[in-house]
Amino acid sequence: MTHPTATSHCILTGDRPTGPLHLGHYVGSLRQRVALQQLHPQFVLIADLQGLTDNGSRPEKIASNILEVMADYLAVSIDPLRTTICLQSALPALAELTMLYMNIVTVSRVERNPTVKHEIQQKGFARSLPTGFLVYPISQAADITAFGADLVPVGDDQLPMIEQTNEIVHKMNSLMRAPVLRHCQALLSATGRLPGIDGSAKMSKSLGNTLTLSASEQEIQRAVSAMYTDPSHLRISDPGKIEGNVVFTYLDAFHHDCEKVAEMKAHYQQGGLGDRQCKNELEDCLQTLLAPIRERRQQLSADKETLLGILKQGSEKAHEHTQKTLLAVKRGLGLPVMF
Ligand code: TRP
Repeated sequence: MTHPTATSHCILTGDRPTGPLHLGHYVGSLRQRVALQQLHPQFVLIADLQGLTDNGSRPEKIASNILEVMADYLAVSIDPLRTTICLQSALPALAELTMLYMNIVTVSRVERNPTVKHEIQQKGFARSLPTGFLVYPISQAADITAFGADLVPVGDDQLPMIEQTNEIVHKMNSLMRAPVLRHCQALLSATGRLPGIDGSAKMSKSLGNTLTLSASEQEIQRAVSAMYTDPSHLRISDPGKIEGNVVFTYLDAFHHDCEKVAEMKAHYQQGGLGDRQCKNELEDCLQTLLAPIRERRQQLSADKETLLGILKQGSEKAHEHTQKTLLAVKRGLGLPVMF
């Protein structure tokens, strides 16, 4: 058991509950969280408020996915005895810190965040951009600082959020003339981003190129069959390309035997190894990985009471923890603390 002290690390990650989690989440962060929970105190935030920033008129979509994400977490072995799983909307300190931070961040600064800029364009918001969406990086800075997290395992698209958080930390601490808030750094996954099964750069539900953690045997089989390889590898005897070949990217990410994968790559490049054979190898490996996750997930989903109970317990602990930061900030700013 690790005892958090002023100098020990504290980890925070989060997910928007917009749908079931997929293999991209598994490679990019879930796997890392399972390892990290052995080493440091870790909080995982189900970011329902952030999920609402682009689903304001569909609150039921976010609400109905909270326990789905909970089931995904537990199914991949995030252990609630080691990791505190909590719900963003249950933690008023996060919303209050967001209000305080909004006053020290300019509109032009939020408009400059490259990830938000890209998302605004991609979602085609134009004049209908929700205010909450534009400022979600400020709310994320509130999340990170409220927990006192110094390590934030995220994908590279989240680096601008970490940078913006540290700017807020710097400004707030100089306003308060004391290091009340902690700086943070991103922990990038060694494997990097998993491409979609169609070969596009990102696995994303809206592109329909994902494989969820709850996928059935047939869904896995279909996804692997449809996977993008090397379009100019027409005959088995032709030399094939590894770069951009999704089957090999996935074999790299999931196969336990690196030497075997290296041999297959060499053989494929030389010619004489067919796509079907590579796909069979990958399918075996994904079926083996996902079968126990799917089974645990089914059991967990059937017992919503237990899932809700774990989330409630975690949120209570997180509430106490984040409330302390809010109080310290209020004091630092000279605001009267009423209770
Ligand atoms: N923005 C993150 C994502 O889309 C989710 C998130 C919300 C988060 N709050 C966080 C991640 C705090 C890390 C820390 O994946």
